[in-house]
Order: sequence, then structure tokens, then C-alpha cells
Amino acid sequence: MKTARGKALPTPDASAEVTGLRSRLAEAEETLRAIRAGEVDTVLVAGKRGPQVFTLQGAEHAYRALIESMNEGALTLTAEKTILYANRSFSQMVRTPLEQVIGSSFRRFLAPADRTALKAALRTPGRDGAKVQVLLRAGDGELLPVQISVRPLAKDDFNHATIAMVVTDMTEAKRSEGLMRDLTHRVVQVQESERAGVALELHDHITQLLCAILFRCQALVDELSSRQGPSLQEAMRLREMLSDTAREVERISRNLRPGALDHLGLGAVLSAATTEFSDRTGVAVKLSCMHLTERLPAEVELALYRIHQEAMKNVEKHADANHVTVDLTKAGHTVRLTIKDDGVGFDIEKRQARRMVDLGLLGMRERAAYVGGSLAVKSSRRGGTEISVSIPLPPGDPLKN
Ligand SMILES: Nc1ncnc2c1ncn2[C@@H]1O[C@H](COP(=O)(O)OP(=O)(O)OP(=O)(O)O)[C@@H](O)[C@H]1O
Ligand SMILES: [Mg+2]
Repeated sequence: MKTARGKALPTPDASAEVTGLRSRLAEAEETLRAIRAGEVDTVLVAGKRGPQVFTLQGAEHAYRALIESMNEGALTLTAEKTILYANRSFSQMVRTPLEQVIGSSFRRFLAPADRTALKAALRTPGRDGAKVQVLLRAGDGELLPVQISVRPLAKDDFNHATIAMVVTDMTEAKRSEGLMRDLTHRVVQVQESERAGVALELHDHITQLLCAILFRCQALVDELSSRQGPSLQEAMRLREMLSDTAREVERISRNLRPGALDHLGLGAVLSAATTEFSDRTGVAVKLSCMHLTERLPAEVELALYRIHQEAMKNVEKHADANHVTVDLTKAGHTVRLTIKDDGVGFDIEKRQARRMVDLGLLGMRERAAYVGGSLAVKSSRRGGTEISVSIPLPPGDPLKN
């Protein structure tokens, strides 16, 4: 069909098509406007099997399903620590219905000391967030060890949440840690009692036998002394070798378990060990045991002795030092032992980065932890090494064993 001016008039079919096109154009224009205004809530993606529609509601569902299926607790908080969102895992952790969790303050689930720890983590979370270990107080009053990973959220006009948190239940990890510690304690106990047994055997049997042989040898030297000659020289050499061997066996026995530790205490044993170390290695050692007139609990003395022993072994093996200072002090209810050398030192971070397992240093840490203390290692290339251990003593402890 054509119009009077010669243009073709639309047929009824064509007219319907035009109407359809107009409405699709209007739709496209509205979509463009919405994109510009940031009001898009639907995304169309052209795929092999035609266009696919993703609504924001759909995406939120996927995220929500993911977060709800997590074993960890997930939360978003306002700057005032009001919980805006929490998943079901968190509600189960704190044994509080979700509707009572959402809208309440996160602080209600923390003890006062842990509130301070969290506040510090929130103050300086860094770009990658912060991690803090606290005890979560559940609705029924039970305490749950958890790790909280905190991450600040980008603020905008629509998003009121400023903090995102992932809360991990550490009960199992703590239990394994406890088991490991108990096992280590047991190993240390067995090792100590084995060492004490061997030390006693060496002292009571081998040293006694060597002394008896030495006595006979001395008699032989006396017998031969009237006749100068090779037999006398040989007997004298034998006597020297025997006395060296007896001394060495005594040293090994003492290192295994110094009997003097039980009878005379740590100060006396460190003093003897210092003299022996200097005489043997030629390295000058300055020992000071300030403010330590009384005996420490037996297991603290043993731990400090073993740490000193390993530290001195390391000085001898690795440090190439000229001077070593050993300080044993007691301030209030804390006893501190510091072993410092002026040797070649080592790069702690490099060793850690290479994941090197330093059994000697690890053993020292374990010994300190075993009696509730801690150990710090400072070292730098050519800057010497300092091992420092602090052990708290129970207040009002009679300090006698
Ligand atoms: N006083 C020190 N001076 C220089 N380097 C040290 C000192 N103490 C430790 N190191 C370095 O740290 C490493 C780890 O020490 P650690 O006592 O754990 O192991 P180790 O002495 O090599 O072996 P082990 O103690 O098991 O016989 C040493 O190999 C050494 O490189
Ligand atoms: Mg060592």
C-alpha cells in the first residue's frame, strides 16, 4: 500500500512491527539511562546459547549461599561494631539466635581484655586486614577460642557496613596444640630421666673403674721410678691418658645431668660451666648472677641450665666469638637469663624464609615454654647473637624445692 505522496503505507503487519520496534527502542533507551544513573539491577550477557540474564538478586543469592555454607562465621559491622549481617555459622558459634545477633553489638561476645585487642586490630588493620586471637563469649557463657580476620570495607553512600570479619573456631587447633605440648613435655621428661640414668652410670661405674686403674698405674709409676728407662716413660704416658679420659668422662656425665644442679643450684653450675668453657675454648666469658641469692624451682633451674647449655654450644660451634656475657637476674617475679656473644651472628629472617628447621633454637623455645616462659633471639650478620629467656615465677612461691 502507498500514501497519496507516493510513499508506501504500512500494512497492518508492518505497523505492528514498527510498534514493537518503538517499544524495544524505548526499552533500550531506558536501559542506557539506567546504566548512566547507576540504577542497573540486571545484566544481559550475550552467549553461545543466546543472551543470558543475571540479576543482582541472583548474584546476591550465590554469595549468600556461599557465605551461609561456610564453617567460619562471617559478619559485617558498622564503625560502632553493630552487627549488620551475620551468617548462621556465627550464630551457632555464639549459641544465640540469628535475630538476636543481628542488630546487637559485637562487643557483647567479647571479654573486656579481648575488646581492647580487637580495637587495636581495627585501628591498624593494614591493607591485607588484621588477625587477632580472642575468646568468644557464647550466649550460654561458654568461652570459645577463635581467630578473627578483620578487613575494612570501602565506604560509599549505600554501604553502611565498614568492617568485614571472618571468625574461625580454633578449638580443634588449640586441642592439637595442647596435645603437641603434652607430648613434647613427655619427651623432655623421658629425655631428662634417661640422661640422668646414663650420667649416674658413667659417674658411678666408669669413673670409679677409671680411678681404680689410675691408682694401679700410679703404683706402677712409683715402682718403676727407681729405674729410669722406656718402661717408666710408657707408664707415665699411660697415667696421663687415663687421667684425661677420667676427666672427659666426668665432663660428659656432668653435661648429661649435673648433680650439682640439685645440690648447689643454678648459680654454682653456671659458674663451673663458665670456667670449663673458657678453659677449653679460650673464649672469655663474663658471668653475673645478680639478685639471685635463693634457689629457683627445680624445673626452672633445669630449663635455664639446658637453654644455657645449648646457647653455649652454639657459640662454640657457630659464633667465632671473642667475648660472651651471661647474665642471670631476677626482677620481681621474673627470672631472666641472657647469653650474648660478639661473634659472626646470623640472619634469622633468611633462615625463617627458607623454612629451615632449627632444632637447637626450637628446643630452647620449648624448654622456656615448658615452664611458662618465652625466649627471644636477636642476631645480625657480624653483629653477634643474643638469646634471652624470661620465666615468670609463681607469686609468693617459697622458691625452694
Ligand atoms: N651464637 C650463634 N652465632 C652464630 N650463629 C648462630 C648462633 N646460634 C645459632 N646460630 C645459627 O643458627 C642456626 C640454628 O641453630 P640451632 O642450634 O637451631 O642448630 P644447630 O646448632 O645448627 O644444630 P643443633 O643445635 O641441632 O646441633 C645454626 O646453624 C647457626 O647458623
Ligand atoms: Mg645448636
